[in-house]
Amino acid sequence: MIQRESEQDFAISSSLTTTTTGKRLLLNHTTDASTLINSDDSEGVCCDVSESFMENEEEFSCMKEEEDEEFAWDKQVDEEIEVEKEEKGKLGYYDFWRSIGSPKYVVAPMVDQSEMAFRLLSKEYGATLAYTPMFHGMYFAYHKKYRARFYQFNPDLEGPVFAQFCTNDPETFVQCGKRVWDLSKQKISAIDLNLGCPQRIARRGRYGSFLMEDLQTVHSIINKAHLELPMPVTAKIRIFEDLELTMNYVKTVVDAGAQVLCVHGRTREQKGANQNYADWTVIRAIREQFPQIPMIANGNIRTFQDVQDCLEYTRVDAVMSGEGLLENPALFNGGQFVHPLDISDKYVNICKTHFPPDHNNIKRHLFRILDKYIPEDRSDLRGILGKASLWEHYREFVDYARKIENEFDFKELEFEPSICVVTDPENHPIVKKPLRKKDVETDSGAADEE
Ligand SMILES: Cc1cc2nc3c(=O)[nH]c(=O)nc-3n(C[C@H](O)[C@H](O)[C@H](O)COP(=O)(O)O)c2cc1C
Repeated sequence: MIQRESEQDFAISSSLTTTTTGKRLLLNHTTDASTLINSDDSEGVCCDVSESFMENEEEFSCMKEEEDEEFAWDKQVDEEIEVEKEEKGKLGYYDFWRSIGSPKYVVAPMVDQSEMAFRLLSKEYGATLAYTPMFHGMYFAYHKKYRARFYQFNPDLEGPVFAQFCTNDPETFVQCGKRVWDLSKQKISAIDLNLGCPQRIARRGRYGSFLMEDLQTVHSIINKAHLELPMPVTAKIRIFEDLELTMNYVKTVVDAGAQVLCVHGRTREQKGANQNYADWTVIRAIREQFPQIPMIANGNIRTFQDVQDCLEYTRVDAVMSGEGLLENPALFNGGQFVHPLDISDKYVNICKTHFPPDHNNIKRHLFRILDKYIPEDRSDLRGILGKASLWEHYREFVDYARKIENEFDFKELEFEPSICVVTDPENHPIVKKPLRKKDVETDSGAADEE
């Protein structure tokens, strides 16, 4: 009898996260706190933990599962999938969307940041759908230790979750689907193909946004998984500068069998210092041309007002937030301000029972939540967090911040109104990075410099 991973998984991942030491891919407890705050780049600047895991080929050579064990597992899961497909069929488009509660507020896939603890936190504040961080397809499909370390999902506590993978190989994507279906005890809502990652590592591996020009491969990956897997396949894309190319691309993705489409309204080049605004006009045009597919809009959502404006303007079904949600995990909370220390407190409590894959995940979250309120020269607070290496240290950090909270100004941040409808790119108010009103007032040159 093959031992299924799902039973062992949570135990393994939490013990690994709390006890492993030493290797390059593991924790760096002495990281300088200030280096942890890095929000310049969308699409995963903060992915050094899992990236280093991915890049360390040597680590993996000893991780390959025994071939005959694999074979038996495969056969067993294949049989179960066939039964599932025959008995239940597979819901598509809006039947599927309704079956997961027609979600409106979506946690973006974020390497090292949309881990289970953060998804649970966001859910408490109104998120109704969440993506896992991107998993590297090859490692997820074929390496048990990678899954044990990075895969976290608890269907009893979480709402609908899409598991995201990057790959350029159809068979690998199918294997990922089988794995996650089995690990999640068949509860994962969908698997998502990352077609948006613009980073160097994606260029090297030819995945993410570097598949945008290879429509045949995109079609093959989605279509094979659509035909062979029991759960729906979804895709998260970026746009081309040219609308016709974008429409043709979307057509390929939809024709291949994607059942939900998430559109990040930026091009591959709009990253890092070139991030710029996300273009909702393109998202709306896609919505109009492909009314059959549930759509999620992504880009420049900083406030609940942005969420409402985006839904109203683009007419999509849901709105996804990444950076905005990292800064304010209560962003989907209907516009009600939640004290950042209450959010931090809740997050740390969740981490006690659902420890993230890495300490840096927690550190970054706490920094992102509190960074705007704590001056840079407060090395006492930043120091505690930077050096934390046990759950208790995070608890102490939040308790200490609470004790001295009247030294800081924890009031709601004000933002410029959202206008991601690009009618006049030259004079667009959101230049390169979403600007806070405060930044504009205190440093009028900031926008130009960025
Ligand atoms: C820390 C971080 C990690 C990210 N990792 C992923 C990822 O794993 N997969 C993905 O498709 N996009 C990833 N992204 C991109 C976001 O999902 C989202 O598309 C992008 O941040 C734009 O949305 P925003 O303007 O709301 O931040 C990441 C973004 C951030 C900030």
